[in-house]
Amino acid sequence: MSDEAKRMAASAAVELVQDGMRLGIGTGSTADHFIHLLAQRVNAGMSISGVATSEHSAELCHRLGITLTSLDETPNLDLAVDGADEFDGALNLIKGGGGALLREKIVAGAAARFVVIADASKQVAVLGAFPLPIEIIPMARQPLSLRLADLGAAVTLRRTAGGEPFRSDENHWILDCAFGPSIMDPPSLAQTLSSLPGVVEHGLFCGMTERIFLGSGDQVTVIADGSISD
Ligand code: 5RP
Repeated sequence: MSDEAKRMAASAAVELVQDGMRLGIGTGSTADHFIHLLAQRVNAGMSISGVATSEHSAELCHRLGITLTSLDETPNLDLAVDGADEFDGALNLIKGGGGALLREKIVAGAAARFVVIADASKQVAVLGAFPLPIEIIPMARQPLSLRLADLGAAVTLRRTAGGEPFRSDENHWILDCAFGPSIMDPPSLAQTLSSLPGVVEHGLFCGMTERIFLGSGDQVTVIADGSISD
C-alpha cells in the first residue's frame, strides 16, 4: 500500500474541481490527500463549498481553511470524491473501513458525479476479501448476526482499542462481515442486506461510481465503465 500512489490518485481527482463547485469530501487516508490538495487550491483563491463525510474530514477541512456546508443548505452536489476498501471490474465498491460508510453513501448519492481514488491494493476480481462493514442499530445485533451468518459471513462487532463497541458518527454500531472473496453478485447482496431490519446501511456501493483514479507508483490509471486508460 503506497502513500504516494494514494496521493497521485487524489491529485488526479482534484483536477476535476472547478471554481464554484459544491463538493462531497470523503474519508480515509486517500481522501486526506485529496483534502490537502484541495486546500492548496482554496488557499490560492478557488471558491468551493464542501460537505464532509465524517467528523474527521470536517475537522481537517476546518483546519486547512476549506469552507463546509451541509446537505440541508446544499442538497445537490456537483462532485463527490472518496476512497474505497475494494473495487471490482464493474466499479462496485466495498467502503466503510474507516466507519464512515453511512455519511459517505448519503453524500455520494447527493452528488451528480461520484469519483473514487484508490491505490492498486484495492483492485480485486471479486469483492469480499475485505470484511464488509454493515452499520446497524445496536438492538438488532444478535438477530442480524444470525441472518448474516446464514448468508455466509463471519461476523465481528467492530470495537475501539479500549474494547468498547465502535460508534459511527451517527452513533450506530458496525458489524464487519467477512464473506471471503465470494461476493459474485454485489447488487443482489446489497438488496438483501438493505431488506434486513436493523441494518442502517451497508458498505456495498453498486452503480454509483463514475470512474476510479487508480494510483500505482507515480502513475494514475482511469477506470470507467469497464474501460481502462492512462
Ligand atoms: C472510510 C472509507 C474509506 O474510503 C476506505 O476505508 C479507504 O480508506 P483509505 O483511503 O485510508 O485506504 O470507506 O469509511
